[in-house]
Amino acid sequence: MKKKKEKNNEIYFYAQENKFSKKNNEIPKEFENKIICSDNLIILKKLPDNCIDLIFTSPPYNFGLDYSDNSDSVNWNTYFEKLFEVFDESIRVLKYGGRIIINIQPLFSDYIPSHHIISNYFMNKKMIWKGEILWEKNNYNCKYTAWGSWKSPSSPYLKYTWEFLEIFTKGDLKHKGEKENIDITAEEFKKFVIAKWSIAPEKDMKKYQHPAMFPKKLVERVLKLFSFKNDIILDIFNGVGTTSVVSKKFSRRYLGIDISKKYCDIAIKRLKTTSIENKIF
Ligand SMILES: C[S@@+](CC[C@H](N)C(=O)[O-])C[C@H]1O[C@@H](n2cnc3c(N)ncnc32)[C@H](O)[C@@H]1O
Repeated sequence: MKKKKEKNNEIYFYAQENKFSKKNNEIPKEFENKIICSDNLIILKKLPDNCIDLIFTSPPYNFGLDYSDNSDSVNWNTYFEKLFEVFDESIRVLKYGGRIIINIQPLFSDYIPSHHIISNYFMNKKMIWKGEILWEKNNYNCKYTAWGSWKSPSSPYLKYTWEFLEIFTKGDLKHKGEKENIDITAEEFKKFVIAKWSIAPEKDMKKYQHPAMFPKKLVERVLKLFSFKNDIILDIFNGVGTTSVVSKKFSRRYLGIDISKKYCDIAIKRLKTTSIENKIF
C-alpha cells in the first residue's frame, strides 16, 4: 500500500498539490458559439472559472508576419510576459480535467526554444504535461546558409519541417464525457495516438487572407482525440476561425477570439457556410 502511494506521488510530480477547484461551470450563453473581435485577455477575464473543455490555439509567432491589425514583432521578454498573462487566464477558465493544446514551433532563427519555454511555464503552473505531438508538415525550405555556415562545422543551421502540439491537462488526466458523444472510430484512434502526424500545411491561406492558418485536418484530429461532441472549444488566437469551423462541423460548441476585425469577419463568413456533417475533410 505504502509502495503504491509513493509511486502515485511520483506521477507528474511537478503538478502534485495543485489548488485547482473541481467544481466545473457552464459557459454563459452569451459566449457560446460566438466569434468575438477583441484582445483575448479582455474576454478571458469575463469568463467564469472552469467553463471550457478544450483550448486549441496557435499564438502569433513574433516573426514579423503580416497579420492585418497587429504587430507580430516585439521584444522576446515582452512577448512571453504577455503570452503568459493570457495563459494564466486560460488555465483559470479551463474545466477540471480540461485540456489546453498549444501549437508552436521552435523559433529557430532567433535560437528561442519556445516549445520548451511554454512547456516549463505550464508545468510551473502545476498543469500536467499530457504529451507532445510532432506535426510533420514536410515543407522543406532549401536556403541552407540563411542563418548559418555552408558546408562547415562553424555554425551549421538546423532545419525543421515540423511543428509541435504541446498538450496539458488541468488537475486530472481524464476528461469526463458521455459515451454517446465519442465520435472517433477505432481506425482513427489507432492512427491518431501515434504522436507523429503527417499533415500538409493549409492550402487555402491565400483565399482566406491569413498567413498562418491551421489545416482543417489538424483540428479534426485534435477534436476527435481530445474532446467529446458538445464540448466547448476555445481558440484564443482564432485567426480566420479554423478551430471554430471544424468544431461546428463536428458538433462541438465554440468560442473564437481574435484581435483582427478582418479575420473575425472572415471567420463569421466561413461559419455561415459550415454545416454539421461529422465527415472527414
Ligand atoms: C497564428 S495565428 C492563428 C491562426 C488560426 N489558427 C487560423 O487557423 O486562422 C495568430 C492570431 O493571433 C491573433 N492575435 C494576436 N494578438 C492577439 C490578441 N492579443 N488577442 C487576440 N488575438 C490576437 C492574430 O490576429 C492572428 O490571427
